[in-house]
Amino acid sequence: MEEIKLGMVGLGTVGSGVLEMVQKHAAKISAVTGRKLALKTVVVRNLAKHAAVAQQVHLTTDLNEILTDPEIQIVVEVMGGIHPAKEVITQLLTAHKHVVTANKDLIATEGAKLIELARANHCDLLYEASVAGGIPILRTIADSFAADQITEVKGIVNGTTNYILTQMAQQHWSYEQALQKAQELGFAEADPTNDVKGKDAAYKMVILSQFSFGTRVPVAAVATEGIDQVAAQDVAQAAAFGYTIKLVGVARLAGDGLFVEVAPALVNRHHPLAEVNNENNAVMVRGQAVGDTLFYGPGAGGLPTANSVLSDITTVMKNMILKTNGNSFNRYSKQLALAESAA
Ligand code: NDP
Ligand code: HSE
Repeated sequence: MEEIKLGMVGLGTVGSGVLEMVQKHAAKISAVTGRKLALKTVVVRNLAKHAAVAQQVHLTTDLNEILTDPEIQIVVEVMGGIHPAKEVITQLLTAHKHVVTANKDLIATEGAKLIELARANHCDLLYEASVAGGIPILRTIADSFAADQITEVKGIVNGTTNYILTQMAQQHWSYEQALQKAQELGFAEADPTNDVKGKDAAYKMVILSQFSFGTRVPVAAVATEGIDQVAAQDVAQAAAFGYTIKLVGVARLAGDGLFVEVAPALVNRHHPLAEVNNENNAVMVRGQAVGDTLFYGPGAGGLPTANSVLSDITTVMKNMILKTNGNSFNRYSKQLALAESAA
């Protein structure tokens, strides 16, 4: 059986999950793609930190080892942030590598340019893990809502803040204590500012808007408020009145335009979003034909996010086989092309 070699940049929470899944789920991956998948080279910043996995995979600090390796056809970017991730992905695509990323910061701000570069180089650039971690929401919107007109997409799309609000409400932890635990559990970004100030959720609403409405919303146009001003007494008072505080993102058609917002909201305790606790996320998609649908699952964490990364990798592998047969279909590229033509 032919073997596809994978490269990866980053070996933190998500990268470690990808390594584990490639090893433990090798047989399933081969069964669904007809190809073996092997992680060949991983780029990190600090080699000493990763000595424990040096026996399992080749570690380096030099991206050129991936760029110049003709065996590596697919590369996972899980280093995070906009720079140097943008430059790394640009070099990978220019070197004709397919790229899978979990990086919402980059996709929300530079995604259109990068997808254009991918297209020009006949490569896939996929990013299911960038929104709602383990919930397969982008492919669901792209595939299952292909014919319906979505009128609203809303939900809880940040695991860290939902974890913090849950612990404040249920364990009566302080905001600081809950944030520290979310960091220890690997849910928060390396710098959690974007999590707690709502920007991470705003990035995700930008990407959801592209998929749902074919419209590229600038991040600056998303009215954004985080949970850093939510005090323990706010959470307690809300509970006393039968509400729970959640950080909710909304993108909805409004006249000829689109309204996109991220803000803490009082959610009635009988509403489905009130039941979404800890690092879990939920996305409600309202379609003109289908009505209301709800997608729930882990929004952060190594293995759930790695599962989304692996689903993209298997899509790339299947596309590679289709392309060798003179055929290919990349739903993400198609969706972004629609978004671009509408912008
Ligand atoms: P971590 O901070 O845990 O890991 C980042 C990794 O990238 C580290 O291994 C680090 O190397 C490496 N790295 C950072 N900068 C460089 C650089 N300049 N050169 C080489 N390697 C570098 O991040 P996460 O795994 O949590 O997140 C990765 C991405 O996934 C982010 O875009 C994040 O938003 C996204 N994501 C994260 C989720 C989560 O639950 N954590 C869920 C969904 C998406 P070293 O270890 O040597 O320092
Ligand atoms: N920091 C992010 C969150 C990771 O807490 O939701 C998942 O995108």
